[in-house]
Amino acid sequence: MSRIPDETIEQVRDAADLIAIIGESVELKRTGTDYRGACPFHGGAHRNFAVIPRKGMYYCYVCHAAGDIFTYLMKRYGMDYPTAVRQVASRVGIVIPEETQRTGPDPREPLYSALSTAHDWFQRQLRESPDAESARKYLLGRDIPLETAGELGFGWAPGGTAFLEEMKKLGVPAPVLKEAGLIVERDDGKIVARFRQRLIIPIHDPRGRVVAFGGRILGAGEPKYLNSPESPVFHKGQQLYNLHAAKNAIRKEEIAVVVEGYFGTIRMVLAGIEHVVAPLGTSLTPDQAQMLTRFTRQVIICYDSDGPGLKAAFRAADECLRAGLRVRVATLPDGLDPDDLVRAQGADAMRKILADAMDVLERKIDLLEKKGWFSGVEQRRSALDRLLPTIRATKDPIQREIYLSTVADRAKVSVAVLQEELKRGESRYAGPTGSDRPTASFPDYSPQRSNSQAPTRRGAQGQAAPDEWEMLRLLIADPDWVTRATQDRISPEWFDRLQLREIFEALQTGRASSLPGGLSPEGELVWSELKEAATRFNLERIGDTYEALREVLEARPRLREYERLMAAMDRTPPDERGDLIQRQAELRAELRMKYPTAWKTRDNRKSRPR
Ligand code: CTP
Ligand code: MN
Repeated sequence: MSRIPDETIEQVRDAADLIAIIGESVELKRTGTDYRGACPFHGGAHRNFAVIPRKGMYYCYVCHAAGDIFTYLMKRYGMDYPTAVRQVASRVGIVIPEETQRTGPDPREPLYSALSTAHDWFQRQLRESPDAESARKYLLGRDIPLETAGELGFGWAPGGTAFLEEMKKLGVPAPVLKEAGLIVERDDGKIVARFRQRLIIPIHDPRGRVVAFGGRILGAGEPKYLNSPESPVFHKGQQLYNLHAAKNAIRKEEIAVVVEGYFGTIRMVLAGIEHVVAPLGTSLTPDQAQMLTRFTRQVIICYDSDGPGLKAAFRAADECLRAGLRVRVATLPDGLDPDDLVRAQGADAMRKILADAMDVLERKIDLLEKKGWFSGVEQRRSALDRLLPTIRATKDPIQREIYLSTVADRAKVSVAVLQEELKRGESRYAGPTGSDRPTASFPDYSPQRSNSQAPTRRGAQGQAAPDEWEMLRLLIADPDWVTRATQDRISPEWFDRLQLREIFEALQTGRASSLPGGLSPEGELVWSELKEAATRFNLERIGDTYEALREVLEARPRLREYERLMAAMDRTPPDERGDLIQRQAELRAELRMKYPTAWKTRDNRKSRPR
């Protein structure tokens, strides 16, 4: 079976009429924006089966069958994945190229050509158009002379219909512009330019072809950056900003610097530091890390040093370790990004910061140490929990050895015990990587959690497992909720930390009054801290708090499975991903429906205001 390109699969999925296809075998009735019918999978008689065209998904509230159009056909008719895709493709009139036939010209050629034409025009606007005066002023205000902007390929997208008219004059067909993400159809059917009144930053593929644009608003306003959508030539998760220009420098320096965004990259390049790339507005993906391995064995992550920045940096670092790279983490002065720093202190200050970048594990240990996490037995255990994911992520065998002995030494445990621990955490999907993905990245470093429900004293306890900890604080503050928790089938296994688990068990079996009797010595310690923290629990709207915590705890194993699947996917060739994709689609649907809050907040980084 030949491999179907991912972009084609996406196209087919988007074009499929879910209601029509499922409607052929299930009688569907409209309810609001969704459609309901009897579930074909468990053979229900009632309308518990929802089809949600908006999300391209179906979901059964009884048997939890869930997925997209492809999984529907697979499950219902026993098709394999490629067959399901081809089946839908033929219905929507999309021709799936056979790999063997792909010797002719690249079918994406018209897109490259349209993007390049548009880019030329945007650049000319920035140089010449009176309308671009504000943009030229803006650039000067950011220390970017017009000539430099020109060298960087910056442009200006005016408002109004000028873009549409010009592209028409130049003979660029509207469907091509649409596919390239340069025009959008509004709800009222009107066609407009995607980029209006924005500074245009070109995004190139590694071969140097323009494949997308980032459009920055000049003043305040949302979104700050409007980027090109995914298209057959642009997949933001598989693309690094500036890689085309940086790749030779990366080879030469034998290291790549990863920063968070456009202007950080640009400023470094202007300062003569050329081996710099950035992801495109998301956390660094496995594909992006993999791309870097084509040019170097080593990276420096240079992100903001605030709490969320550090968290994102460690996540990116783990991703790089998984790709087999060695990773160092640079530390910028508080509140400065690379753009600010170079402007304020010059290129040499930046070079020094890069030279001082610390190995990622050392950096984590350093931070934990400053917080006293190696001072007591209990803390050491928690510190270990924070360091294990990094070791687990490390693919390079030598690097892994070194990390093992470093951590064994710091946490005062034997390498053998550590190795046991590592094995225990490794998942059934994963090889040496992949487990612990979402939550284990690192504790929150922000000085104080703003949530009034959060522990006010920042003990290691609260940070290690905030949701479990909060749930227990609630149950101790108002024991009436223990019964409810039991009704809701919250079980001790939901608690990862052994001490919290034993305390929950004690509460559940009515032993609260005899506590800390019957607990392990570590459990006793945690109990006393917990009990004290419970006196400060905010009882207002306790029902809502309870619900939110229950949801997050209940969703947690599923979220973890989801992340493991993502990791497994990276290691699986695309045409063998059928089962994984199916399971993932089911999980995603279940999470979105049943655990919307947990799903939305699964990744703090993503909800960080940007
Ligand atoms: N980003 C994005 N969409 C947004 C906000 C940010 O794609 N709405 C991406 C951009 O690639 C951006 C990066 O995330 O460069 C980092 O965001 P931020 O730090 O807010 O932007 P800066 O690069 O610092 O841009 P500026 O200096 O213009 O504020
Ligand atoms: Mn900035």
